[in-house]
Amino acid sequence: MKIAVAGTGYVGLVAGVCFAEKGYDVTCMDTDEKKVELMRQGISPIYEEGLEELMQKNNASGNLHFTTDHVEAYREADAIFIGVGTPEMPDGSADLSYIATVSRQIAETVEKDCLVVVKSTVPVGTNDKVEQFIRDFLVHDVKVEVASNPEFLAQGTAVHDTLHAARIIIGTESKEAEALLQKIYEPFGLPVVSVKRRSAEMIKYACNDFLALKISYMNDIANLCELVGADIMDVAKGMSYDERIGARFLNAGIGFGGSCFPKDTKALKFLAREHGYKLRTVEACVDVNSAQKTRLFEKARERMISFRELKVAVLGLTFKSGTDDLREAPSIDNIRLLLEAGADIYAYDPKGEERARMLFPEGKGKKGSMNYVTSPAQALKGANICFVFTEWQQIREITPEEFRKEMHTPLVYDGRNLYCPAEMKAAGVEYYSIGR
Ligand code: UDX
Repeated sequence: MKIAVAGTGYVGLVAGVCFAEKGYDVTCMDTDEKKVELMRQGISPIYEEGLEELMQKNNASGNLHFTTDHVEAYREADAIFIGVGTPEMPDGSADLSYIATVSRQIAETVEKDCLVVVKSTVPVGTNDKVEQFIRDFLVHDVKVEVASNPEFLAQGTAVHDTLHAARIIIGTESKEAEALLQKIYEPFGLPVVSVKRRSAEMIKYACNDFLALKISYMNDIANLCELVGADIMDVAKGMSYDERIGARFLNAGIGFGGSCFPKDTKALKFLAREHGYKLRTVEACVDVNSAQKTRLFEKARERMISFRELKVAVLGLTFKSGTDDLREAPSIDNIRLLLEAGADIYAYDPKGEERARMLFPEGKGKKGSMNYVTSPAQALKGANICFVFTEWQQIREITPEEFRKEMHTPLVYDGRNLYCPAEMKAAGVEYYSIGR
């Protein structure tokens, strides 16, 4: 069976590589020549554990191909998976222009019956439109159906999440489409939940927004904990034993970022509004998160007269550990505010520096300055204040004594609750975290 994959971001590339690993003949299509050339050499454009090894293995076995030529990729495919981005528009709705481009190319290219499978996160009803759009523009006399197959991988564990997914959701409108997708996923040996297309599309948003809600709920409770003298870490622990609640995604902190939760909460809010409905829970989740991101900065601002010419250590830039991605990372909002306030930032991140440099070039700006260092100790050396934004192991391992010894004034604002308040206090560090 020939599989084509449109788009080689987190979703497309990982799906393509994993299908190749399961023995399919896979061609991944991307418009970026440079990226395609790298991938042909087995170099991954994204940092994702285990991905390059699988790319190299399947490149060598001849199962995995990369191309910029959509005709070559789609013409004879049995199934075409769409994994292109659906970025956020200024009004919060999802931008479907990449999906439209791919759909048009598919319509103009396919020379045999095929199943188009939408993996990208798209508003409910989009699959219907994609199917109609492709049929409208079909050049050859072939049958094309569209199925929904949302992706649930998390960055940093993408390969593992794909090969060992909790479930595969397939949304189809015909027995043939359902049977083909069941067959494609058979070698994975995972539970398959088969539903109608619109339900599959909704499952994806409902899952992401539920997890986002869970985090915002914990952040809300954490903020209340601070006011009433409770400790959110203990509260979360107590909650986690209830199987109805579950033990994961209970970590309060600096707010969620990444390419999914911020976008998908806003997109569902938008979709509801479009249908004349106010999704109050999700709207509250968005509001709580946006305030949470700068909560520590606001606290620090209350304590300091000014940030001008202060040496500020920033530990962690990516939206979570295990990835080099900075999309919607809380660090971005905070760095902007700190620079605006005239701070001299010394930032450390084991994987995120390269991408951060594109957003915040090194050097003196109009107000503050941005500097990148290669170890937590360099960031802390002589610092007046420290912000922790990502839970990297290298940052977690810093001891209270190191903060005291390295910093000019040991003042730490920790957005990830990485350290023990009592130990920090005992070491003479002034320490603020979330909900404790
Ligand atoms: C998420 C979903 O987990 C995944 O299923 C979906 O396919 C894509 O979106 P991802 O964005 O890669 O994956 O990361 P995730 O681990 O879910 O974390 C998202 C954000 O929530 C991060 O900023 C993380 O730090 C934050 N988070 C997560 C918390 O603040 N507290 C938690 O308890 C868990």
